[in-house]
Amino acid sequence: MRSKITVVGAGFVGSTLTQRLVERDYADVVMFDIIPNMPQGKALDMLQAGPVLGYDSLVVGTNDYAGTANSDIVVITSGFPRKPGMSRDDLVKKNQEIIGQVTQEVAKNSPNCIIIMVTNPLDAMAQLAHHISGFPRNRVVGMAGVLDTARFRTFIAQELGASVRDVQAYVLGGHGDTMVPLARMCTVAGVPISQLMAAERIEQIVQRTRDGGAEIVKLLGTGSAYFAPSASVLQMVDSILLDKKMIMPCAAYLQGEYGINGLFVGVPVKLGAQGIEQIVEVELSESERALLKKSADAVKELVEVMGI
Ligand code: NAI
Ligand code: 2OP
Repeated sequence: MRSKITVVGAGFVGSTLTQRLVERDYADVVMFDIIPNMPQGKALDMLQAGPVLGYDSLVVGTNDYAGTANSDIVVITSGFPRKPGMSRDDLVKKNQEIIGQVTQEVAKNSPNCIIIMVTNPLDAMAQLAHHISGFPRNRVVGMAGVLDTARFRTFIAQELGASVRDVQAYVLGGHGDTMVPLARMCTVAGVPISQLMAAERIEQIVQRTRDGGAEIVKLLGTGSAYFAPSASVLQMVDSILLDKKMIMPCAAYLQGEYGINGLFVGVPVKLGAQGIEQIVEVELSESERALLKKSADAVKELVEVMGI
């Protein structure tokens, strides 16, 4: 029997992700949204691409959680993006309502699933889903680090005329202005970028990475990024569903690791069939540790707004 994946929210990120998942042909996919008929329409359209592209995955849309029952993985993308004039606190409260209700349904209908959170503010929403579902920490993981790292790798590769495949990097911390691109550990075919680029240029790229989401919001005029975000979730699903045990930066509930306790923060994790199978502790310099702590403090402030 094929695995079952539910994607909650059939907007830009949710529907693009669903398309990527069905093209993988390794799971049946259910797309849930509250807008009547919309997920059904998008799913039917995708299903009819199967004969052309050669996949047999079943994809269905629904407005009823019963259709999502017993999913192996549930990706949550429902919610609002931040709009001009909206503070992070406003966004956290608005999406808290949605994610609270969605998580209850997900936990009830798929009690053994692994939740991948995408909705922003990412780390706070992952914390909320963990709190509401009561799932163990290995089964709630947030997507942000893979995306932020992909942006960092893209800019480095462009700068050096290198293949993105040769650029390895980590972006840790919360998914926001305080994220921590670890330039010291970034390598191109094993060579540290400090040997390939001037320090000021590296700093500019680090800053562009931090502003990566905002840069796209500004260009789009309305809405936010979805191609790279959906590709990033896909890589996480691949590693879980195929038990690949890849190590990638994800938001995980820390219990003392990196000196952080009781909070979701982006750190390198091993993703496999059990979800987060290991939190990988890389040795950080004093300044990197301080930046990570600052980022964790910013996440904590948002979590406090939720009052959980
Ligand atoms: P969108 O507006 O295109 O889609 C959101 C969908 O959620 C809509 O179809 C809406 O009907 C649905 N929805 C609203 N309330 C719902 C509920 N109670 N139950 C089920 N569905 C509901 O937005 P988009 O671009 O897909 O982004 C979705 C979220 O993902 C936003 O919060 C955005 O900020 C976040 N995001 C996070 C990224 C990350 O790196 N973690 C990257 C990109 C987006
Ligand atoms: C991004 O980084 C909006 O979080 C989203 O593109």
